[in-house]
This record gives sequence, C-alpha cells and structure tokens, in this order.
Amino acid sequence: MARISEEIAPRMTGLIITCDSQGKPNIAAFSFLMPVSFEPKYVAFSVSPRRKTFENLREVGEFVLAIPSREMINVVWACGTKSGREVDKFALLGLETEKAETVKPPVLRSMPVQLECKVELFKEFGDHWLVVGRVFKEHVSKLDFQPVLHYSKNVFSTVSERIIAE
Ligand SMILES: Cc1cc2nc3c(=O)[nH]c(=O)nc-3n(C[C@H](O)[C@H](O)[C@H](O)COP(=O)(O)O)c2cc1C
Repeated sequence: MARISEEIAPRMTGLIITCDSQGKPNIAAFSFLMPVSFEPKYVAFSVSPRRKTFENLREVGEFVLAIPSREMINVVWACGTKSGREVDKFALLGLETEKAETVKPPVLRSMPVQLECKVELFKEFGDHWLVVGRVFKEHVSKLDFQPVLHYSKNVFSTVSERIIAE
C-alpha cells in the first residue's frame, strides 16, 4: 500500500520553530501542514511524538511557522532529517534568529513569510498529533516566491505553472 504522503502530494513545506521551557529553540521541517481559517487566522500541522518539536510543543505551546523558498531546500532537508535532540540546527546551518513579538520561540532572519502562533488544539490521531495554532503576529516580506513542495522522503518540486480557473 502507498504511504499517505504519496497519496496526497505535493504538499507545502514549512519550518516550525519551537522552544523548550528553558527557551532553547529548535527548528524542523513539516509538510503535513495547512491553513485552517482566514479570520482569525489559524494554521494546522501534524507532528509525530518522536520529534523534539513534539516535546517542545508540550512544554511551550507556541511556535513560529516559517515558509521557506526553494533556495532553502538544503536547509529544509537538514531541518527534516536531523533532530534538535542531537544537534543545534541553527548553529549547524548558520540560521540567524531574532526575538518574536508575541511568542517565546524566535523568528528567523529574512524569511518571506513567518507566522507567530499559539497552540489551541493538540490532539492525537493515529501515529501523529494534530496541532492547531492561532496566528498572533505575521511577518510577510514577500509573497511572490517559489515555495518548496514535498512529495515523500527526499522528493520535492516547485511550482512550474500557475493556472487561472474561469
Ligand atoms: C520535507 C519534510 C517534511 C516533513 N514533514 C513532517 C511532518 O509533517 N510531521 C512530522 O512529524 N515530521 C515531518 N518530517 C520529519 C521531521 O522534520 C524530522 O523528523 C526532524 O528531524 C524532526 O526534528 P526534531 O526532532 O528536531 O523535531 C518532515 C521531514 C521533511 C524532510
């Protein structure tokens, strides 16, 4: 049987920044990710309980969702294959951070879109937990960029064509 990530693909890739109760930040890649509501803005993603991100969300129910552009594919891959339990991914990848305005985890420097969010729902579904977060602050420097679309494992694409329905 095909994996669900092969059946529903490609998916938008995001980077989720969290922190533990001591304030130590972590960053990881997520593609089980979607917008939920326009007004107020809500986003959702699902996280495996094996992730350091999961532990952090339990300790501090806040996160930053950063949407990477295709130039960041190697950052995305490293953030999605190394755990914050073993390595400081910010130091490893030279990612600079700044204090967020409304949440404890930091924002990244120079990302096209970043959303500061607080968790309102954290619920187990099968082998993942659904996280729904309300957006409290948006940092948008650019909307016209190539996002990273994820299929499964190390297979990605970008948007090759935009089509307008009539
Ligand atoms: C492109 C991509 C998308 C991913 N999407 C998810 C996801 O939606 N949920 C999840 O739990 N793990 C996902 N992963 C796996 C985590 O990013 C990976 O296990 C990471 O090392 C977790 O880091 P952490 O332990 O520091 O939280 C994805 C990995 C990649 C490369």
